[in-house]
Amino acid sequence: MHSEKLKNFLHKKRQAEQSGGEERILAQHEKGKLTARERIDLLLDEGSFTEIDALVTHHYYEFDMQNKKFFGDGVVTGYGTINGRKVFLFAYDFTVLGGTLSEMGAKKITKVMEHATRVGCPIIGIADSGGARIQEGILSLDGFASIFYHNQLASGVVPQITCSIGPSAGGAVYSPAMTDFVIMVDKLATMFVTGPEVVKTVLGEEVSFDELGGAMSHGKISGVSHFVAKNEYHCMDIVKSLLSYIPQNSTEEPPVVDTGDDPNRLDNNLINIVPENPLQPYDMKEIIHSIVDNHQFFEIHELFASNVIVGFGRFHGRTIGIIANQPMVLAGALDIDSSNKASRFVRFCDCYNIPIVTLVDTPGYMPGTHQEHGGIIRHGSKLLYAYCEATVPKITIIIGKAYGGAYIAMGSKNLGTDMNYAWPTAQIAVLGSEAAVRIMNRKEIETAKDPVALKKQLVDNFTEKFANPYVAASYGTIDTVIDPAETRPAIIRALEGLANKRERRIPRKHGNINL
Ligand code: HXC
Repeated sequence: MHSEKLKNFLHKKRQAEQSGGEERILAQHEKGKLTARERIDLLLDEGSFTEIDALVTHHYYEFDMQNKKFFGDGVVTGYGTINGRKVFLFAYDFTVLGGTLSEMGAKKITKVMEHATRVGCPIIGIADSGGARIQEGILSLDGFASIFYHNQLASGVVPQITCSIGPSAGGAVYSPAMTDFVIMVDKLATMFVTGPEVVKTVLGEEVSFDELGGAMSHGKISGVSHFVAKNEYHCMDIVKSLLSYIPQNSTEEPPVVDTGDDPNRLDNNLINIVPENPLQPYDMKEIIHSIVDNHQFFEIHELFASNVIVGFGRFHGRTIGIIANQPMVLAGALDIDSSNKASRFVRFCDCYNIPIVTLVDTPGYMPGTHQEHGGIIRHGSKLLYAYCEATVPKITIIIGKAYGGAYIAMGSKNLGTDMNYAWPTAQIAVLGSEAAVRIMNRKEIETAKDPVALKKQLVDNFTEKFANPYVAASYGTIDTVIDPAETRPAIIRALEGLANKRERRIPRKHGNINL
């Protein structure tokens, strides 16, 4: 009798492991995609996966759905470890009714999200789904709503990461968008609110799936995707690297790694990276790579708004969030996209106790109707808000130009930055010398006997007097002017000095960031 029951159970278990069946698994492989279970195996430490709700089915009868029941109901959920660290996860199972979201699928997903939030460990979602299960109508839509609700509850409590490895259509894209990091796999992932068919009907525009919502489009143009992975294996490697920098939850510190790199390591070549002519660009990443432990910089949003660089590095084994202007792109000016990119990164670091190092070389906010009408005032001010709001240790180093609003926005002293350093090459002013003289001395130059000579003289005077770090240092808004060679040890000493920083603000429900 017992043996019958056990046999019955084992049969169901095997069926559940088979997801949508051999044929669907083959079809999934033919599309060049792994199955949900294969993805989980690839991501987690071997043998560490514990599945939850494997025997869940839908309870829907319309549209002949009673004959389309599969265990798991389109999503595999559970927990396991990645390099020994616990994570909860859900992976949409495309072999079951196209991985579509049912009422029960949503309950499975929100159950693991609740576990992760209570236990205090990251949530990883693997997206490959036809979106709302059309047959279930409102039940499915309400399911998405409850996922969004749990995304918000988890936000700032535990890190949330999305691996997008197949279609994500309609409102389904909003759950990934509410997570902290999205990784899209090139040529396999697509995300869009309305697909090419609708675009054609409504706007008469012809656009392919990939062009509309592929990994490159979202990695480069919209910024929805923080990473573009070459394939599924690369995608899982990115998750593992990302996790190595961040803590399990907002009450923990990020992991400390023995990198073996000398905290007192100097680089006498650093100053030579910055050209003497301030109009000539250079690659800020050379400076970043030089100063972080073992020259390892984990860049985020590499392809999007590359006039600002954001990512993680380690200083003496501790994770630091780096935000830097990139003079190679748009001369390092801040625009709408780079303001959004940097603000979101500052806020992530602040949520998860990751100190922030800002490297500055920017001529200002981008001018022009495109930027003004696009809302540079709204978007640019997010960066101010984010820096002011962040209470983690903040260190800013001005390397070259730091003009006007962009000087202020890039972690200036009065935004609550703890340590502000400058290289001798820093130029801190309201405007560049040329622009300043053009405004201050226009009439004088126009009426001069030799306008060219006068202008040159005025520009030289301005540069000598104001385009340096010493005026700011004399007011204490720059704490120290440092030898560029000593940038790495200076940052490490500053971080040590700030290690037990505690800053409490007046309690409130939440601030109202100017979104
Ligand atoms: C029910 C669906 C489905 C859906 C796919 N299927 N999407 N079933 N509801 N939304 C089923 C198919 O009928 C098929 O079943 C199986 O899943 C696999 O789909 P295929 O089309 O054969 O696969 P493929 O060619 O790879 O195309 C995948 C796809 C396409 C790009 C996702 O199926 C598609 O465009 N689906 C519709 C996407 C969509 O518009 N979803 C609703 C979005 S609105 P059989 O049995 O034939 O194999 C939404 C609202 C959320 O999500 C709101 C939240 C706020």
